[in-house]
Amino acid sequence: MRNKISSTITKAVFPIAGLGTRFLPVTKASPKEMLPIVDKPLIQYAVEEAYAAGIRQMIFVTGRTKRAIEDHFDTAYELESILEYSQKQQLLESVRNVTPDDMHCMYVRQNRTLGLGHAILCAEKLVGDDDFAVILADDFMIAEQPVMAQMVEQYKRLQKSIIAVQNVPRTQTNLYGIVSGSEVQPGLFGMNNIVEKPLPDEAPSTMAVVGRYILAATIFEELRNQQPGIGGEIQLTDGIASLLKKERVFSYHFNGKRYDCGSKIGYLKAVVDIACSHPEVSGSFNSWLKNKVQSTHAQTTKQNQSDYFA
Ligand code: G1P
Repeated sequence: MRNKISSTITKAVFPIAGLGTRFLPVTKASPKEMLPIVDKPLIQYAVEEAYAAGIRQMIFVTGRTKRAIEDHFDTAYELESILEYSQKQQLLESVRNVTPDDMHCMYVRQNRTLGLGHAILCAEKLVGDDDFAVILADDFMIAEQPVMAQMVEQYKRLQKSIIAVQNVPRTQTNLYGIVSGSEVQPGLFGMNNIVEKPLPDEAPSTMAVVGRYILAATIFEELRNQQPGIGGEIQLTDGIASLLKKERVFSYHFNGKRYDCGSKIGYLKAVVDIACSHPEVSGSFNSWLKNKVQSTHAQTTKQNQSDYFA
């Protein structure tokens, strides 16, 4: 019997043990979650999103080559004293703000990459009996109200698992967990089915799971009993499908924009979009980008004309 204490979400799990093969060779010795969006790594954005939702306990499910993440969220005494000594106040603050005083980081190692469901199961002892959030750092989100804060707001009313979803082209259903359900409120759906990476003609809908979950702690029992699913991995999606047979689960069509930073093109789009509004570089970056677009356009037009008259 669970002894749930909190009626809000206080813990977030960040599965970061993945190999990041799509970004090799940069991910050979460093974590993909440390890829920078201008000057902040993906994982910092993810942690800031959790923090903005009132979450203070951050649980990282880590693996080999991921030590840079622990260092990033640790105090950097030498660096801080050098910045203090040279009176670089703004930089000092940017370093200190990575880990606010009331935030607590915990680490557990996933020593075999057996899938997302297995990664979540590795966090069981640290999560305990409370419902918790899961954030996949390579799904980078921009929203007026941070996406996890939107979800925690929903959770406070529902006290049930909530999975963030987004509509995708049918040709891409094989890249995502796909859900179906019926709308109970604008943007909120009572889930009735969830399948991991179905082929386009087998997908129950085009509503795709993106990397934000609020999960009831009862998910652990389902994950413990899960057999390997697609790709031979213990899938979180399959655990949610089992949970769905026992209790209500909701899917939530969030407000905001998602960048798939697990892919090169998604990552590049995120970098460009953030650079365009970055307080330090936006001015010069925007004018460079404008020139770049104009000259590329001019070149393409010239090329098309010479192809036409060739
Ligand atoms: C994982 C999940 C999948 C979800 C996706 C979102 O897949 O298994 O259900 O839709 O994240 O990014 P992955 O991208 O790790 O293959």
